Amino acid sequence: MSPIPSEKYVPQSAFMKWMEARLPIWGFLYPTAIAYPTPRNLNYFWTFGGILSFCLVVQIITGIVLAMHYTANVDMAFNSVEHIMRNVNYGWLIRYVHSNGASMFFLAVYIHMFRGLYYGSYKAPREVLWILGVIIFLLMMATAFMGYVLPWGQMSFWGATVIINLVGALPLVGDWITTWLLGGFAVGNPTLNRFFSLHYLLPFMIAGVVILHIWALHVPGNNNPTGVSVKTKQDTLPFHPYITMKDAFALVLFMILFAAFVFYAPNILGHTDNYIKANPLVTPAHIVPEWYLLPFYAILRAVPSKLGGVLLMFGSIGVLFILPWLDTSKVRSGAYRPLFKQFFWIFVVVCLGLGYLGAQPAEGGYVIAARILTTMYFLFFLAVLPLLGLFEKTKPLPNSITESVLGKNGGGGMAGAAASGATAAPESKA
Ligand code: HEM
Repeated sequence: MSPIPSEKYVPQSAFMKWMEARLPIWGFLYPTAIAYPTPRNLNYFWTFGGILSFCLVVQIITGIVLAMHYTANVDMAFNSVEHIMRNVNYGWLIRYVHSNGASMFFLAVYIHMFRGLYYGSYKAPREVLWILGVIIFLLMMATAFMGYVLPWGQMSFWGATVIINLVGALPLVGDWITTWLLGGFAVGNPTLNRFFSLHYLLPFMIAGVVILHIWALHVPGNNNPTGVSVKTKQDTLPFHPYITMKDAFALVLFMILFAAFVFYAPNILGHTDNYIKANPLVTPAHIVPEWYLLPFYAILRAVPSKLGGVLLMFGSIGVLFILPWLDTSKVRSGAYRPLFKQFFWIFVVVCLGLGYLGAQPAEGGYVIAARILTTMYFLFFLAVLPLLGLFEKTKPLPNSITESVLGKNGGGGMAGAAASGATAAPESKA
């Protein structure tokens, strides 16, 4: 049997024929998971969608097992986590995979988002796909924030106190949302219970939005490093075995990094104060969130007004929703936009800088630096992207994806032979 799949699903065995006539699930999945035409020039940045799907599954499975032993009560939560670490068989492993898994998930999502930003994957016709991504990102942040409260350590308690109180600054709805989140007048047992309930629920909502995300991807198809649309069948390869194998290889590398954290530095990304049981009478010297929320925390504290900080913080994510309409450039990929490229890397440094400042005390030079970087963050979206498209002189685009890979003559010699062999097979089968 040829390793190159045919375009249409043809059930092979008697059982599959029988099944297809009753529940054609494989026939439904086949065009998406096997034959799906993928641009032939995708680089390794395109493997992170698969890596993210893996992370979501790992978080859900380890989370379900943790929930079997965890107790959502302010008097028992901290001890129940210690019980998982010490007494439950492989409890330490499951907990470390879950807690480091959150970090790995965010690492992957940031690479995935910056990839989208660089190659213009948010531009038409992929606006809905991008917006669904931003919704996933918001849900991920809410899930991670609530999960961090569950061990009921000092940072859990004080992080929740600070953030929930900030929401109270919102006019009209602030008090109402605060009371609803707290389940009372201060962070306490009802807060812990509703956070546990929502922390269990949200990943399934994320999974639902991921299905929409992939659906919205498969209608226009993948973008690619050139940003040039697929024109002929020659420009694509079937998803299986080409992309499945490449994704699997990238996933193995990612798992090695993941395992290095879990087995060699499982607490390096966490805060030591969270190994102290929550104490409402003792405030920690510095209240900091997990690393992946630090840039937003820096924006929140950059302005002296509580309401201003909250609005800026939500604004910093809100602006991502309108990104597809802010960028006026006709050229999609940053690879052909010399000025955009420079601003993109400045933007990356700005985000890293905000992350660093989020971990520092909100005083003196740190606050001034946070104000400068916050301004630069918003300028990138609200001034640079709209204006750049009007003035920038872009580089000439290749005529097609195939041309960008194989050169103008369509690739003679070995490369051309291999390429035409790879794409001719499905045609000859169809
Ligand atoms: C649980 C989180 C997520 C999962 C499982 C996920 C999954 C995927 C998958 C499987 C792909 C196709 C493969 C690839 O391009 O890497 C993809 C593409 C894409 N995703 Fe996500 N994604 C997630 C979060 C996000 C977020 C937060 C954003 C942006 C805010 C985003 C924006 C995009 C875009 C624009 C594409 C199209 C890429 C292209 O073809 O250039 N995704 N996603």
